[in-house]
Amino acid sequence: CGIVGYIGQDDTKDILLNGLEKLEYRGYDSAGIATLNNNGVNVFKVKGRIAALREAVDESNKATLGIGHTRWATHGVPSRENAHPHQSVSERFTIVHNGVIENYIDIRDEYLADVNMKSETDTEIIVQLIEVLNEQMDDVAAAFRKAVELLSGSYAIALIDRENQDTIYVAKNKSPLLVGLGDDFNVVASDSMAALHVTDQFLELMDKETVIVQRNSVEIQKLDGTTVSREPFTAELDATDIEKGTYPHFMLKEIDEQPFVIRKIIQEYKNENDEIKLDLDIRQAMKNCDRIYIIAAGTSYHAGLLGKQFIEKLANIPVEVHVASEFSYNMPLLSEKPLFLFISQSGETADSRSVLVQIKELGHPALTLTNVPGSTLSREANYTMHLHAGPEIAVASTKAYTAQMAVLAILAVDTARAKGLELEFDPMQELGIAANAMEALTDQKEELEELAREYLPTTRNCFFIGRSVDHYVGLEGSLKLKEISYIQAEGFAGGELKHGTIALIEDGTPVIALATQENVNYSIRGNVQEVEARGANSLIISMKGLDKEGDAFVIPYVHHLLTPLVSVIPLQLISYYAALHRDCDVDKPRNLAKSVTVE
Ligand code: G6P
Repeated sequence: CGIVGYIGQDDTKDILLNGLEKLEYRGYDSAGIATLNNNGVNVFKVKGRIAALREAVDESNKATLGIGHTRWATHGVPSRENAHPHQSVSERFTIVHNGVIENYIDIRDEYLADVNMKSETDTEIIVQLIEVLNEQMDDVAAAFRKAVELLSGSYAIALIDRENQDTIYVAKNKSPLLVGLGDDFNVVASDSMAALHVTDQFLELMDKETVIVQRNSVEIQKLDGTTVSREPFTAELDATDIEKGTYPHFMLKEIDEQPFVIRKIIQEYKNENDEIKLDLDIRQAMKNCDRIYIIAAGTSYHAGLLGKQFIEKLANIPVEVHVASEFSYNMPLLSEKPLFLFISQSGETADSRSVLVQIKELGHPALTLTNVPGSTLSREANYTMHLHAGPEIAVASTKAYTAQMAVLAILAVDTARAKGLELEFDPMQELGIAANAMEALTDQKEELEELAREYLPTTRNCFFIGRSVDHYVGLEGSLKLKEISYIQAEGFAGGELKHGTIALIEDGTPVIALATQENVNYSIRGNVQEVEARGANSLIISMKGLDKEGDAFVIPYVHHLLTPLVSVIPLQLISYYAALHRDCDVDKPRNLAKSVTVE
């Protein structure tokens, strides 16, 4: 979910709606805003997208103070009733919230037994609690702090009080939230993108802080009431980067940007002597550790699997790759000198952040690879490496994935050199070759559109097979396809299919096989024979030099370690066209959010 707030001199609705549009990547099943003026509070809510909310907002409504929300449902179905903002019984208090309140049933039973709830959400508990506490304490700021103290779980909150047109009350724990600073106005937002159209100066908030935001002042307090002073930071994002231009979808634009992103990474990680440029502390941390634990979710997890290959093969350090949401309660035995490597496009994924908090408590060092340098995971880890991919807006990740792999390859080589290992692999040169190959593929859209039409016409499922690194690319290819086209897609190690899943192969079942690795070329083609013998409609994506007659698509030759950067491009484009042919909403697939800020 995403939240925004504005208090200033201008009319607030457009500022809120523009901000919410930038936050839609966090969820888009329902949305709402509340504004406050002399006539009281006006709440507009809809089930659906911000575009629908824009239509629902009364144009004549003028106010200089307001809050807004776009939702990704956790408690309660997506509906107008469950959409934020929520109000207290007397409608004096109005709130937007991102996160999950874990003890909301306890709070309801202990403090709110007499209150008639309007929705099914944990959020309503907060606003009702504030009203009840304010009745007892007759001090809104104190009641707000007290309420926040009683909450456990994750929250980013903005609250307005009908009796006070000069204040937004804000609190944060685990869920991201920033305060943006302006001249005669201030804003609140889940991330800086949502407020870039009005300011580039932001105050970071720490967990369990509350903030009194007024037109000309921002006061951060800890829960015990003591005031905290903090310097703002400048958000280094260019607002024009988050426009779609002439492209029909952000996803297509981002697929096309990949070769340029790789070239940008080469530039950013190279010094004037053509050596790898890296923070010395990162180099030292990599050199000092005895094992690396990669923590990530979704597509970033798939990049992590390839990161393990780079680091183990090039730098000779053992690596484990873990799904963030599992790690917290299923922590493996750690080595003596572990280094944690968080891979996250957004730097905000709550599952990953929860691991970061846990391992920091244990005193272990962490390095974050992220596309958003000011993000939570970046701020809270000891070190950060930037992906330089530019804002990624489409929910299905593409350019962040290839950027993650490129940065991981550079990191692995740097570590190998720091350890004095002899390498024949020149990462910058090989990445340059890969970038050219990627560019050649983004020019073959028509061919790939045709393959999507031919192999995935009305199919309900699709399998991806590959061996070695091709297996991991297959996992990513299947995730792309299912995310945006809703075709049930699974990726398997080539040799594993026959141990169960082959039972699902019927006449015409599409099987996409990757064959870019010389050492397994023979065996993966054997697996293709096996599925074809059972009726599968197979499509082989191979690499120049290893290709055979009948292969559906051949990528240019690149270094065998870097084939994933290139072979994923046809998979991204086939998924894109399969989704397009099904009239799916490519950039905003159902039920998903780009950045999931709840655990
Ligand atoms: C969400 C997105 C995925 C993404 C994952 C991890 O589930 O829908 O596309 O891969 O989060 O996101 P991160 O920002 O941590 O890489």
